[in-house]
Amino acid sequence: MHLDGGRRRGFFLTLEGPEGSGKSTQAQRLAARLTAAGLSCVVTREPGGTALGEAVRQILLHAPEPSPVPAADALLFSAARAQLAAEVIEPALARGEFVICDRFGDSTLAYQGFGAGQPLEDLRSLQRFAVGDLHPDLTVLIDLPVEAGLARKQADEITRFEERAGVEFHQRVRDGFLALAASEPERFVVVDGLGTADEIEESVFGALRSKAGVRLEVPSRTTAGSADASSFDRSEPDRNSLRMDR
Ligand code: TYD
Repeated sequence: MHLDGGRRRGFFLTLEGPEGSGKSTQAQRLAARLTAAGLSCVVTREPGGTALGEAVRQILLHAPEPSPVPAADALLFSAARAQLAAEVIEPALARGEFVICDRFGDSTLAYQGFGAGQPLEDLRSLQRFAVGDLHPDLTVLIDLPVEAGLARKQADEITRFEERAGVEFHQRVRDGFLALAASEPERFVVVDGLGTADEIEESVFGALRSKAGVRLEVPSRTTAGSADASSFDRSEPDRNSLRMDR
């Protein structure tokens, strides 16, 4: 929950996971459901989401050899994040909107920290420098075995992280995400990324409902847009609203 002078603000949800976990698809699906419920929703991604961030993304994902050293990676991801937080996330939260971000600070800890060996303490300091005390209200980790995730990646989605990093790197990243989730169980929910997109969508939405104390009345995925929309919680009187009671 983000508080501003005692006033409630929007809700900040991040999606994290190793390669091929389907986060981007789930970000879109979740946004569609929340929008169908009449909520104002912003979907963004890292690295990217701003003009500066998209330019940094090009450098980061397609950097020529020799690859940036891990510290340079951490700084570049953090620069993009600082801009995204100031330009997109904070203003949307201040307007009371629901922000869904495809990757955030936990990716730096998992990839540059657990994966590439940068000290977690330094990365956490960098994170504070970049975004201050902006923290996700809820982080959904879509977890799946490394081989399964890498196999899902299409040729046009291959970045230098898949191209130049071995399976062992991605295994450390996955283990790192799971360790982060275990260390902050109140913020994280881990969902099984091996299911179908529909199954994962239900898990993500279930996590949002139960973990964040959010009560929503939202058309189900199959009936969205029809007059006969079903609801998640018919006992909830506050229709088409988002209530955050943490
Ligand atoms: P992208 O194509 O967006 O991958 P995905 O669809 O899996 O999110 O590329 C983002 C890549 O950047 C991905 O390999 C993870 C990596 N990354 C980091 O190493 N550190 C970070 O802080 C972030 C945000 C991403």
